[in-house]
Amino acid sequence: AIDLTGRPFLKELDFTAEEFLGLVALAGELKAAKKAGAEVQRLRGKNVALIFEKTSTRTRCAFEVAAADQGASTTYLDPSGSQMGHKESVKDTARVLGRMYDGIEYRGDSQQVVEELAAYGGVPVFNGLTDDWHPTQMLADVLTMTEHSGKPVTGLAFAYLGDARFNMGNSYLITGALLGLDIRIVAPEMYWPAPSVVAQAEKLAAVSGAKVTLTTDVTEGVRGADFVATDVWVSMGEPKEVWDERIAALAPYAVTMDVLRATGNPDVKFLHCLPAFHDLGTQVGRDVHAAHGLTELEVTDEVFESAHSVVFDQAENRMHTIKAVLVATLAGP
Ligand code: CP
Ligand code: NVA
Repeated sequence: AIDLTGRPFLKELDFTAEEFLGLVALAGELKAAKKAGAEVQRLRGKNVALIFEKTSTRTRCAFEVAAADQGASTTYLDPSGSQMGHKESVKDTARVLGRMYDGIEYRGDSQQVVEELAAYGGVPVFNGLTDDWHPTQMLADVLTMTEHSGKPVTGLAFAYLGDARFNMGNSYLITGALLGLDIRIVAPEMYWPAPSVVAQAEKLAAVSGAKVTLTTDVTEGVRGADFVATDVWVSMGEPKEVWDERIAALAPYAVTMDVLRATGNPDVKFLHCLPAFHDLGTQVGRDVHAAHGLTELEVTDEVFESAHSVVFDQAENRMHTIKAVLVATLAGP
């Protein structure tokens, strides 16, 4: 079994393919044990702080349920609930929490903050999403892909459409390159990951045998894909005003039934980290409908509700994979 005792979980680039897949395998074992009613608690007496400077449903609940299942306690700190960044520096906060807690989760804008917490906390720190990376989501998505394809992910063809210059696009590109996927970023050039991220992906691909493609062409980008994924067009922390330019630029990259048909793969699966904007069930959906007459944004309701969609398996797998991170880093050998 994988033992990452004392290690932080900050970004995919910090892990070897073996370590990353070891966490996914551990998550699969923990999932099976829970479903069989045979889970063994390995985190009794541990305490984990959960700092959320941005909102969350899945990530917060996944950490809380995973910790509770394993016998650990959590403290949730919302943006107004701690002194960090207002009255107290990140460095001092890290040193205080590190004296009380066995691990610290952080979600916010800045990768630098999560790295600083890890540098000064003296305990494992977990990245629950920054503007740059969403690494716990990648564990869930790789577990979901493994379950649905019935084989290791190496060699699978994966196309990500939409805004690829933020956390999800960066994380998919690096994870795909690390694990040897045929990874395609399909977006207008200005929404591609930064050149430094692409360079890191190419370096990893040279070792893993991954195929890295960046293209503006949807038909070419999705051909033969086993998985098609997208994300919101406007991320947390971005101003509402950017919706106009995003819709104008990214509408051709929305995941529709035509896009799934263009894969040529009748078994293609659709992934979305969620939350998704595919109907009038959200304030964003209603606002965009009022301004642009659109109810469907990055994905159509037809695709979202279809048999291709595995988005709720992904959501469930957030919990099993975050549990694997907690166990691997905090339980000890
Ligand atoms: N996918 C994801 O991170 O969801 P939350 O924002 O609800 O945590
Ligand atoms: N790119 C999205 C992901 C949400 C889980 C955001 O940062 O808001």
